[in-house]
Amino acid sequence: MLCCFIRIDPSFRPPRLSFHYYPLRGATNTHIYPIIMALSFAARAGQAAVRQAKRGVCISARALSTARPVAAAAPAASASPSDAAGANLRIHGGLKDQDRIFTNVYGEKDSGIEGAMKRGDWYRTKDFIALGRDWIINEMKASGLRGRGGAGFPSGLKWSFMPKVSDGRPHYLVVNADESEPGTCKDREIMRHDPHKLIEGCLVAGFAMGAHTAYIYVRGEFWHEANCLEKAVKEAYAKGMLGKNAAGSGWDMDVHVARGYGAYICGEETGLIESLEGKPGKPRLKPPFPANVGLYGCPTTVTNVETVAVSPTILRRGASWFASLGRKNNSGTKLFCISGHVNNPCTIEEEMSIPLKDLIERHCGGVRGGWDNLLAIIPGGSSVPCLPKHICDDVLMDFDALKAVQSGLGTAAVIVMDKSTDMVKAIGRLSYFYKHESCGQCTPCREGTTWLYNMMTRMQIGAAEVPEISMLDELTRQIEGHTICALGDAAAWPVQGLIRHFRPEIEERIRLYKEQQQRGNQEERPTDKQIVGAL
Ligand SMILES: Cc1cc2nc3c(=O)[nH]c(=O)nc-3n(C[C@H](O)[C@H](O)[C@H](O)COP(=O)(O)O)c2cc1C
Ligand code: SF4
Repeated sequence: MLCCFIRIDPSFRPPRLSFHYYPLRGATNTHIYPIIMALSFAARAGQAAVRQAKRGVCISARALSTARPVAAAAPAASASPSDAAGANLRIHGGLKDQDRIFTNVYGEKDSGIEGAMKRGDWYRTKDFIALGRDWIINEMKASGLRGRGGAGFPSGLKWSFMPKVSDGRPHYLVVNADESEPGTCKDREIMRHDPHKLIEGCLVAGFAMGAHTAYIYVRGEFWHEANCLEKAVKEAYAKGMLGKNAAGSGWDMDVHVARGYGAYICGEETGLIESLEGKPGKPRLKPPFPANVGLYGCPTTVTNVETVAVSPTILRRGASWFASLGRKNNSGTKLFCISGHVNNPCTIEEEMSIPLKDLIERHCGGVRGGWDNLLAIIPGGSSVPCLPKHICDDVLMDFDALKAVQSGLGTAAVIVMDKSTDMVKAIGRLSYFYKHESCGQCTPCREGTTWLYNMMTRMQIGAAEVPEISMLDELTRQIEGHTICALGDAAAWPVQGLIRHFRPEIEERIRLYKEQQQRGNQEERPTDKQIVGAL
């Protein structure tokens, strides 16, 4: 019922001992967890032996016979900080049902208020509101929750930026339900099937920020999701959970659902605020930050659907419960959306810091054609750099581990590409997306994304010179960090990832194109315009 093995990866510094386990068909949690616990102890014993090896002591454990002395080990590009310190040996993942926050993510149960209350939503909400703003913010800080919208900023800290005392201006909570990052499809599941978690979260987060009004800004294309939310909001008013004295807490709270028009840039927090005010979604220069001057010039916090929706459960179950899941500074559970060349694409709630390979093998039926058929993975939505297979073999799915390998957790949208993928074309398609979505306010983004797209289009067929690859990389550096909002970075990073890991493929394509040109009687190289027009 359980197949497991312990393996030493000598490429890590110190050599990393990884513990892999795969439940076989028919195995249940009751079968698996005691064994996992026993094997975790075995893994810890093994790690002690690795430490001995570091001190030059002979390694006696048979399982460690392949470990190289530390001095000889290659630098570990994908070693996560706490693993590198040898401090954290627990293998994360395999979230237990009792630790699941989103218990109706597939819509198998009643998503209405009665069903939600049966699943524990709206339970004693007024009690934790009675504990006060500071208590809620301190609990959020202690839980270690980091924003689920992409940047991973600590949520408790962000909520605490709202003025403690009102200067007469209203405070606003704005929930970002734009979900436009390619590959991302988690917030829509919350809105469709678990909307009361979000609405209860609006009351709790709104109270913690001193806001009596929340706007949920829903992406225009999410027609069905906006309808589900509107229905849930109506139910909450009818049950007394919203409006005057919401949920009997003594706090008045109104929630409005606002529909966007489907522009990616309206997901950027200040672009979203502009759009909510009825203007084109062009991001604002910061400072002033929204916590001081946001919606209608008033203190505002813009935060992601998942971030808000998990907050009532964190308060009900306690910050320490949430913090006990995942690695330090990367705590909690997370909705991962896995798409592309896997056998079973899905959105799944898992423990943070689960190994990427486990995530795919456990929940997606593996990579199409097997793990060895993997070419690369984009681990956090289209804007983060891709990772080649050898990094995917061991990397953990959390903010710090993915940052350590020069990528990011982003929105946790995992895009899997097998060996049939034309990587240059795939990243070129993303360049088209960013060029199309640039709002055009800043020159490096407006001009740079067009240049990126044109150059990537030539690279796709190899109509370039080898030194142009470095020029392309330099172009991304000129965009990155030189724009009003992070769309510029988002356009630059996928191309940087491609060049970092797939440069030989691009060079080979250029060589083949040259050969073809020579055979074809030295034709003139087509211009960018001709190629873009032809594709
Ligand atoms: C171009 C662009 C698009 C974005 N789109 C979204 C989005 O669709 N949903 C989202 O929650 N955050 C999006 N963000 C991030 C938001 O600006 C903001 O950081 C986030 O909503 C904060 O929520 P959090 O603190 O809960 O993570 C986007 C950022 C950029 C630069
Ligand atoms: S970076 Fe791009 S999308 Fe963002 S404000 Fe500048 S031009 Fe607009």
